[in-house]
Amino acid sequence: MIVGPVAQIDLEALRHNLAVCRVAAPRSKIWAVIKADAYGHGMGHCAAALDSADGFAVARVQEALGLRAIGISKPLLVMEGAASEAELSAALSMQVELTIHSSWQLEMVLSQLQANPQPRPQRVWLKLDTGMGRLGLQQEEAVAQIKRLRSPASASGATQHTSALGSTQTSPLELAGIMTHLANADDPSHPMTAAQCEQARALAERFGLPLSIGNSAGILAHPAARSDWVRPGIMLYGGSPLLNYSAAALDLRPVMTLSSQLIAVREFEAGAPIGYGSTYRCPESMRVGVVAVGYGDGYPRHAPTGTPVLVRGQRAALLGRVSMDMISVDLRPIPEAEVGDRVILWGQGLPVEEVAEQVGTINYELLCRLSPRVSVVHERPEHPSTSIRETPPVQIPEQGP
Ligand SMILES: Cc1ncc(COP(=O)(O)O)c(C=O)c1O
Repeated sequence: MIVGPVAQIDLEALRHNLAVCRVAAPRSKIWAVIKADAYGHGMGHCAAALDSADGFAVARVQEALGLRAIGISKPLLVMEGAASEAELSAALSMQVELTIHSSWQLEMVLSQLQANPQPRPQRVWLKLDTGMGRLGLQQEEAVAQIKRLRSPASASGATQHTSALGSTQTSPLELAGIMTHLANADDPSHPMTAAQCEQARALAERFGLPLSIGNSAGILAHPAARSDWVRPGIMLYGGSPLLNYSAAALDLRPVMTLSSQLIAVREFEAGAPIGYGSTYRCPESMRVGVVAVGYGDGYPRHAPTGTPVLVRGQRAALLGRVSMDMISVDLRPIPEAEVGDRVILWGQGLPVEEVAEQVGTINYELLCRLSPRVSVVHERPEHPSTSIRETPPVQIPEQGP
């Protein structure tokens, strides 16, 4: 038996959540977002379990190369594109689709393709900044670049390319589509989302290009974001992407369950201090459990007294400060608790969103920052089978969620 924290990864739940995505966006192709080690769930195992996705999206070239290295042959999208000449040449040789978010990236791609012609056109997605204010070309710049790429050789600028994009077999670059990222999709009633979707749709339609908009929140709450390609991340892992909606209400199942064990059960008198800084004092004589998990494992150090855990499946509250390797919990509600009992920190029976809210962070951060010290166990890797409800999980409210 493993002693210490274990993250159990339920691959059946992962497949179920992908099926929920398919129901919500039935006409879209799916880039399953597996960046950041599949949000902390193990990129290789998750890629294998998500085999029915149409492709995988990652943030960086390094992540795409890692997937190719383990034999993943599906389409891969690098959402930040190549950040250097070296990254670009590695990506070109591995048949990875690249995002172009800035003009300098486009120049780099065109000049490298000219210097090193590839056997087939390099697919790129032009990223449009519709209001995220992070990566992407502004509208006028995007229009100008698309026109330039579509024009004959003489108009393709400094790179002096030999053909118009997509117009001949020998074109070095294929404009795969337009993508954009939503800034406020987690709020189903936010007016900006419709405007962002509309701007991206208009540009894609104007040039007859495929479109990629929806992240998890967009897919579940904004029909206009259910574009030709969608890019779900957090919903695949069973996290709620929407404010005021639980994952269960969205028919999403938790994929990661983080648990550990009670390694001590102590009796303290009223007034006894617990942990560093003595920030908690026992209000009465009481039993306190010590659990083998701490910030050295990725459990959040700022989790306050009262943050819930499950001991023997029952709720108990964290007491005092989180240490590097341990936390203390109030065992008054569970008198039968004893050393060796399993303690769930989040996952099955305890939504990660609840813990995140206590800590003042989001489900994404808790899931993707577990430390390498945590043992990760992948369960139910074979035999996909899932039953999902047939209605879209979120009805868009008139006024707020
Ligand atoms: C460009 C882009 N698309 C899609 C996603 C997936 O988002 P989510 O996990 O909210 O579904 C991300 C995640 O950060 C992203 O950066």
